[in-house]
Amino acid sequence: MKKIKIESFLEVYTSMDALPETIFSLMQEAILARDTAYAPYSEFYVGAAILLENGVVVRGSNQENAAYPSGLCAERTAVYYASAQYPNVAFKAITISAKGKNKATSQPIPPCGSCRQAIAEYEIRQGEAIPIYFMGDQGEVWKSDSLENLLPLLFTSKYL
Ligand code: THU
Repeated sequence: MKKIKIESFLEVYTSMDALPETIFSLMQEAILARDTAYAPYSEFYVGAAILLENGVVVRGSNQENAAYPSGLCAERTAVYYASAQYPNVAFKAITISAKGKNKATSQPIPPCGSCRQAIAEYEIRQGEAIPIYFMGDQGEVWKSDSLENLLPLLFTSKYL
């Protein structure tokens, strides 16, 4: 039987301070976005920021609902808002920061599967990789050079 090996690589920054200037600023935007989260049920606060090709930064945060599945993650709030407000403007980079209520969140928090699938749609459409940087509320920042690197074997319109 033949086997297929799938590898992904991440770059690790020891802290936010080690990020390139533009990305440091974009991570600060994600942190500001985090403070706008509406998360009374999970008390887990997530912020995302997207740098668009036109220079605009779009922020998103998780928005929860008493009917739990009706809520939405920060990343999808941001990408859908960006695409709705600035259609066909490419995403140059995405930053994500997350924080729990009662304790420090030191480990980098990656985007969930549904958010990866949502971001993939835009990466494929623009034909250019979207670097994604994610962290907790302190500690290391992990960078993926593209969405596809975070979601190997992704489902795309080419299968339809
Ligand atoms: N959450 C995000 O905003 N992004 C993710 O990628 C993972 C989870 C939110 C959803 C929910 O409001 C809370 O974090 C706990 O799952």
